[in-house]
Amino acid sequence: MASTPLPVLRQRSFGETARRDRWWLQPLLVFIGLGTFLVYANWAAFQGAHYTYGPYLSPFYSPELFGNSPHAWFGPQPAWWPNWLPFSPALIILWAPAGFRLTCYYYRGAYYKAFWADPPNCAVGEPRKHYIGESNWPLRIQNVHRYFLYFAILFLFMLAYDAISAFWFKDENGKGSFGIGVGSLVLTTNVILLTCYTLGCHSLRHLVGGRRDCISTSPLCHKAYKGCSALNKRHMLWAWVSLVGVMFSDVYVRLCSMGVWTDVRIL
Ligand code: FES
Repeated sequence: MASTPLPVLRQRSFGETARRDRWWLQPLLVFIGLGTFLVYANWAAFQGAHYTYGPYLSPFYSPELFGNSPHAWFGPQPAWWPNWLPFSPALIILWAPAGFRLTCYYYRGAYYKAFWADPPNCAVGEPRKHYIGESNWPLRIQNVHRYFLYFAILFLFMLAYDAISAFWFKDENGKGSFGIGVGSLVLTTNVILLTCYTLGCHSLRHLVGGRRDCISTSPLCHKAYKGCSALNKRHMLWAWVSLVGVMFSDVYVRLCSMGVWTDVRIL
């Protein structure tokens, strides 16, 4: 019996779609949101100043490996720093969290649409005739996400340490005591949001449970997988609130350090 020939799908021209909803709104919001963050984060990273206030350290500068604040691990600007580049402690470490976000499965889908219009949205004509996807170079590089995950988890521990330190205030004699400032709560909220984002990562979910044939035979993995999956369901939400959280934490520390905002002590 002769088989029925499959219908030939016509290639849509760029922007052509049968969708009648406001399909352009989501990529536009992503463009504005991510664009604002990128501009601010680059500006803040190159400042090299106003990133600490008392026990607070901006997450853009944590860990401060080299620098002039009391938070620096290994002392001031190293001798090997190139003369042509203005020194900023953030430039030494920001590649790790930036690489983690840039290669995140959610952000990839979002910025391909918002910044490259490839496609502008689902079921909307794209500018290219041939789909090459992420199985070819250069986008194959996105597979490094699984390795950035290890750095992101390491950063969580360091940011948690910063958040705990933010409850320890020194008096004029250098004697430390427990206290709570609005900044302590801001930095604590920041690390909680980042934890919810990182622990819901698709790569982590695969790592803790996806490789097993029967996950229920390993109760610990099963629990971790369920926890990861619960956070993963809202991965887009955690991605955005943690992005806002980390930016606001830097703004808060910066404006307190500049004397624009006053850090209110609750205790
Ligand atoms: Fe988004 Fe890993 S998939 S952080």
